[in-house]
Amino acid sequence: MVTIDANAQGAGSCPVDAGNITLGEVSLADPEILARPTAFYAAMRREDPVHYDAKLDMYLVSRYDDLQTVVRDPATFSLERGYQAQYAKGFNDEFREIVIRDGGGFFADPIMTDPPYHTRIRKLLESAFSAHRVKELEPRITAIVADLIESFADKGQIETVSEFSVPLTVRVICEQLGLGREYENKIGGWSLAVAAQIGRMQTHEQMLENARQICELQNCLIANIRDRERQPREDMISDLVHARSDDEENPTLSFEEVVPLVRALLIAGNETTATALSNLLMILATQPAVAQQLAEAVDDERLLTRFVEELLRLEPPVRGLARMTTREVELGGTLLPANAHLLLLFASVNDDESVFPCPREFDLNRSNIGRQMAFSAGIHRCVGLSLARMELKVAAREIVKRLENIQLAIAPQEINYLPTVATHSIERLPITFTRRRN
Ligand code: HEM
Repeated sequence: MVTIDANAQGAGSCPVDAGNITLGEVSLADPEILARPTAFYAAMRREDPVHYDAKLDMYLVSRYDDLQTVVRDPATFSLERGYQAQYAKGFNDEFREIVIRDGGGFFADPIMTDPPYHTRIRKLLESAFSAHRVKELEPRITAIVADLIESFADKGQIETVSEFSVPLTVRVICEQLGLGREYENKIGGWSLAVAAQIGRMQTHEQMLENARQICELQNCLIANIRDRERQPREDMISDLVHARSDDEENPTLSFEEVVPLVRALLIAGNETTATALSNLLMILATQPAVAQQLAEAVDDERLLTRFVEELLRLEPPVRGLARMTTREVELGGTLLPANAHLLLLFASVNDDESVFPCPREFDLNRSNIGRQMAFSAGIHRCVGLSLARMELKVAAREIVKRLENIQLAIAPQEINYLPTVATHSIERLPITFTRRRN
């Protein structure tokens, strides 16, 4: 058991307050820690950087350098095994039976794998994500964002998650994939159901409801994929169905690979970006000086880009993702056995004082702003990061052009977060504002 001294050594200037946390007595799975984990992360970074969390039965990787070691060595730290172990802790057998019976099959995630299989899948997936294509999207995304903000700019108040973040990301990803607008109001629920499978917190009853939602999602995707097999269009589903690589033996994706890949894009692109958009509004509402900086940066592409990176550093939407050791290995002073289940805490490493001084401050002038780890690094680095950055940049610009005096309509301590170790996502964020007149 480790007791934390808030003045302990090892932190840079403005160290994050570790409070009175005694690491052995609490778990990341405790609801109050899960919702407000900053002090817990600080305690781990200082005292026990690769901390065994008994309740989760996982080692929590909390320091920047250790996380880099893990993501750069996929042979020792397997994503595939870590992911499967995470998945299996949610009533997996029963879940599997339901989706086979009612959802067209159980489709394992082909991207959540290790090399060499992952290398082939990643190449084919990237073909649907060329930078060229994302750049071309800016005017279209701007139109979607402007249209959405205009729909509520004179209302003076909204609930951010349901009226802005989710509708925006859903509209963008549906257009990209080529899914019709009739699915838009389904996708929020589908995303949560898929994300819950690695969140480690679902009850049996919730699993049954999530399985029902996932069946519905898969049936929708299968119908669209079959359609694009017959008739390609200008969309990502068609790109994936018809993607070709130079691999002589296996140049295309099979149907069993396309279904879960489209599912992965829909979900990974949705929950994460929506969370980042809610975080953007939360920061604008609680830090007027940052809102002012954004208003001044609105025509400066370079500053807007930095703004998005610092937002992602300060509030990374993906909190923790899994790996599993394939052999005994030492990490951050801890000897890990083979098959140790790890949770990589992106949120903690972005707060690591040895890399980012005064980490809880929003600082557009950081010299190393690009080192933030919200998108991870190595072979699994987020494949959708250019799309995500584009959406965030456009949203930040269009919000500040149209709205001012953004404020929370609830007290900060009333903000609730979804109960999952995988993301740190605001559940509801009521805000007030006025239309900008100048
Ligand atoms: C702010 C928004 C986003 C954040 C914070 C984010 C974060 C991440 C992170 C941390 C990973 C790394 C996983 C690991 O190392 O284990 C990842 C992977 C991935 N992301 Fe994102 N993501 C975002 C948006 C998107 C979007 C828009 C898409 C697609 C439309 C997407 C698709 C994926 C996929 C398919 C992977 C798996 C890549 C692989 O394993 O090779 N993400 N993302």
